[in-house]
Amino acid sequence: MRVLITGCYGQVGCSLTDQLAKDANATVLALDRDSLDITNQDVVNAVVTEFKPTIIINAAAHTAVDRAEEEVELSYAINRDGPKYLAKAAQVVGAAILHISTDYVFEGDKVGEYVESDITNPQGIYGKSKLAGETAVAEMCDKHIILRTAWVFGEKGNNFVKTMLRLGSTRDALNIVGDQFGGPTYAGDIANALIQIAKRIDQGDVIEFGIYHFSGLPHVSWYEFAETIFDTAVGQGLIQKKPGLNSITTEQYPTPAKRPSNSRLSTEKINNAFAIEASNWKTALNNIQAYTG
Ligand SMILES: NC(=O)c1ccc[n+]([C@@H]2O[C@H](COP(=O)([O-])OP(=O)(O)OC[C@H]3O[C@@H](n4cnc5c(N)ncnc54)[C@H](OP(=O)(O)O)[C@@H]3O)[C@@H](O)[C@H]2O)c1
Repeated sequence: MRVLITGCYGQVGCSLTDQLAKDANATVLALDRDSLDITNQDVVNAVVTEFKPTIIINAAAHTAVDRAEEEVELSYAINRDGPKYLAKAAQVVGAAILHISTDYVFEGDKVGEYVESDITNPQGIYGKSKLAGETAVAEMCDKHIILRTAWVFGEKGNNFVKTMLRLGSTRDALNIVGDQFGGPTYAGDIANALIQIAKRIDQGDVIEFGIYHFSGLPHVSWYEFAETIFDTAVGQGLIQKKPGLNSITTEQYPTPAKRPSNSRLSTEKINNAFAIEASNWKTALNNIQAYTG
């Protein structure tokens, strides 16, 4: 298969590039923003026409949730228009597009896990622009997979695990939000899920295109996630002492963008369709040293 990866230096982009580099059956073109700015339709068309991918995986996004409230135009350019150009180009060359989306398309007030057919109601610009991207991808390309995920962490890039380890090494106590719940998701597991789906498409299997949820289990609060991160770090001798952790409410930690209090995504559909298991984030934390860079 011929795979074009966008946003190749992001958390998921890096994992995709690393994993596909080991796959002898994949010819990969992994590009960063400098080589392929997805908001530039001419560049998108030129790259796709020349490389002729069978699969496009869009790992590029504007992911700064709070900054998005001010960078409205930029958010829509990257999260809606870019995916639209990629999907349109994919359709022209007969490729499938695998696009990543987010739990932030939901309001977060549901009791229980969100399934793919649940009504969306994003609360901020990031979520709204990502939802607009989903719609554009679905409209532009018949062969599309939209993988909604949540609470992503990987060895590369910025994420909660890295922030905790950094702050924990300099502070005695940390306040962590305890009333938002979700599934931490390892970037390597997202990449693996996307590659498994890509292979099924490439070998001509009949699959159901559309939206799938993929995230980690068990579901926890940010506070519980932090507890596990520090327990693992202490257990493995990465840090001597666990900082004091205080569970605080969302109200006590105001941010420019409103976050969903419930980000729990059901992974039943992807499991039934592709036998892909939820991300085991605790296992991914075992190599805690890898998140200190
Ligand atoms: N992070 C999370 O917790 C989370 C949660 C739910 C869903 N998601 C979704 O998961 C996907 C991957 O997220 P991630 O955490 O891997 O994101 P990330 O680490 O922020 O990476 C995004 C990448 O996209 C690149 N990019 C930005 N604008 C671009 C453009 N115009 N053209 C090409 N590349 C561009 C960025 O490059 P620069 O560094 O140069 O800006 C960066 O390398 C995204 O679709 C995101 O919405 C993430």
